[in-house]
Amino acid sequence: MLNDMSTQENTAIIVAAGSGSRLGSEKPKQFLLLADREILSYSVQTFLDHPEIGEVIIVTAAAYLEHVSIHYPDCHVVLGGPNRQDSVFNGLRACSRDTKIVLIHDAARPLIPARVIDDCLKQLKTFDGTAPAIKPVDTIVQLKGNEFQNLERDKLRIVQTPQCFHLDVLRQAHASGKTDTDEMGLVKQTIPSARLGYIDGAPEAMKVTNPQDIILLEFYAKTV
Ligand code: CTP
Ligand code: MG
Repeated sequence: MLNDMSTQENTAIIVAAGSGSRLGSEKPKQFLLLADREILSYSVQTFLDHPEIGEVIIVTAAAYLEHVSIHYPDCHVVLGGPNRQDSVFNGLRACSRDTKIVLIHDAARPLIPARVIDDCLKQLKTFDGTAPAIKPVDTIVQLKGNEFQNLERDKLRIVQTPQCFHLDVLRQAHASGKTDTDEMGLVKQTIPSARLGYIDGAPEAMKVTNPQDIILLEFYAKTV
């Protein structure tokens, strides 16, 4: 079912201005090939194809502005900043005047199911913000010096993107001048009354961080 709000009001912001230092490849990971296509192109296509997304903004580094502008002519391309949060901020500034909802997505997560986008938009009918999250499969321990503590796995989640908000809420959070590692954390920190809740993510929405992630994603790309 379509969202009550019109498609023009939903803007995807794909942040692609990182350098991929942990992967250590010669170019940033979003510009590497995955099964013969640039990693960035997968999520861009998913958002462009989604019937409820009206606009796709790509945020990228100065060295890639020309490349991205040429290869993604259906997107609005803007310059990123030194940290992910700065890049998100630049994306928020570039939203069209019609935008009411923003979906902030990591370019380093190529395989985002349309179902996740559907569920996020549905959740925003009653929530201020949402993001996909999955349950960890391994035991997770917290280290305290030489000691450790097993954490309650049922209460833990691995958070993915897109992180989705009513635009006014995320703008207010950014205006606080505070920082956090993701948008859900920033909004929770700065607007305690905000209604935030996670939806079910997907294993294939994993992020490319280390070299072996690309091998696993190539498998997913052929099977999902
Ligand atoms: N990102 C961004 N602007 C930055 C830093 C990160 O747009 N200044 C983007 C990345 O391009 C990526 C997403 O945020 O799509 C998630 O960040 P991460 O996985 O940490 O990517 P990098 O910062 O590129 O990698 P690393 O931390 O290993 O350097
Ligand atoms: Mg990073």
